[in-house]
Amino acid sequence: MKKILLSGGAGFIGSHIAVELRNSGFEPILIDNFSNSERSVAQGISKITGFEEHIHEYDCRDSSGLLKLTQDIGQIEGIIHLAAFKAVGESVANPLKYYDNNIGSMVGVLRIAEELNIKNVVFSSSCTVYGSPESKEVKEDLPHLEAYSPYGVTKQVCERMLEDLSQRINRAKFVSLRYFNPIGAHPSGLIGELPIGTPNNLVPYMTQTAAGLRDKLTVYGDNYETPDGTCVRDYIHVSDLALAHVSALDFAMKKMDSHHEVFNIGTGKGQSVMDIITTFKETNSLDFPVEIGERRPGDVPSIYANVDKANSQLGWKAKYSLKDALEHAWKWQTSL
Ligand code: UFG
Repeated sequence: MKKILLSGGAGFIGSHIAVELRNSGFEPILIDNFSNSERSVAQGISKITGFEEHIHEYDCRDSSGLLKLTQDIGQIEGIIHLAAFKAVGESVANPLKYYDNNIGSMVGVLRIAEELNIKNVVFSSSCTVYGSPESKEVKEDLPHLEAYSPYGVTKQVCERMLEDLSQRINRAKFVSLRYFNPIGAHPSGLIGELPIGTPNNLVPYMTQTAAGLRDKLTVYGDNYETPDGTCVRDYIHVSDLALAHVSALDFAMKKMDSHHEVFNIGTGKGQSVMDIITTFKETNSLDFPVEIGERRPGDVPSIYANVDKANSQLGWKAKYSLKDALEHAWKWQTSL
């Protein structure tokens, strides 16, 4: 079984990738520093995969520690690097925390790749690298515009590092996946999102409100120039996103020569905040208070992915519907 080092393996997206790697015959080597995740996630992954999954406690900035771990493990065929902080607002309040962790972790992982001659690296980038583009549907060839937050800067810098290094590290193949808005949970309800403290993102805030843990959901602005006045995003089921990593790894291993390639990973469809709330309520036959509030600073009115490149080159396409994602998110919330 080919071993794949998966950093951030205990997180929301990482845990779902671990499952899809197993489903595709890979052996995931999970590492996480548990700064924003729980050790118990390993049990949920193990129940789904039927393998005894272990999550090694490492910080990716500690490349000598990582090197020791990887030498004990034996040959590694690829790396999927997710370990990073992701709260946009916190990054504005504390930029150095983000520059240190997100860029430092990327450096640590690339040191390992170079030292151990690991050719295939998949990086978790974000649609935030597009800044606030003029067109709502974005294609990969748009240049990086000014990032809205230090979090966004870290994703841009990491992509640039990969671009640069792909020409310097012998035959390295780097793939950046630009995630749009990952939501949902594994259909089994055994793994899902575990936000620590008050959630920043729409879907976990909504599921917690529906569960009675929050009084009401505030919609951040209904006076945007969008069909119903609320912001539009491209919401993708986390299991579809996870599968995109397996496709990207396969692409790097079999089809790529040495360079850096980027792919949008979304559904290709824009959905408004109100679409999400209505679909969630209808799908799960429930209700909860919703109020209209002020705009949230930094929100882009509308952005969704053009996914032609991922469809044609990776042979990947999102399969789950919005209803599926919101049903699974609720199943997960009610299991907690
Ligand atoms: N929203 C609300 N109420 C809430 C939370 C969110 O109305 O309580 C709205 C936001 O204003 C936005 C939409 O729901 O219009 C989605 O917001 P999220 O916070 O769920 O997601 P974002 O689109 O802001 O952020 C996502 C990722 C980031 C990434 C960013 C890039 O979570 O990691 O996309 O655009 F940087």
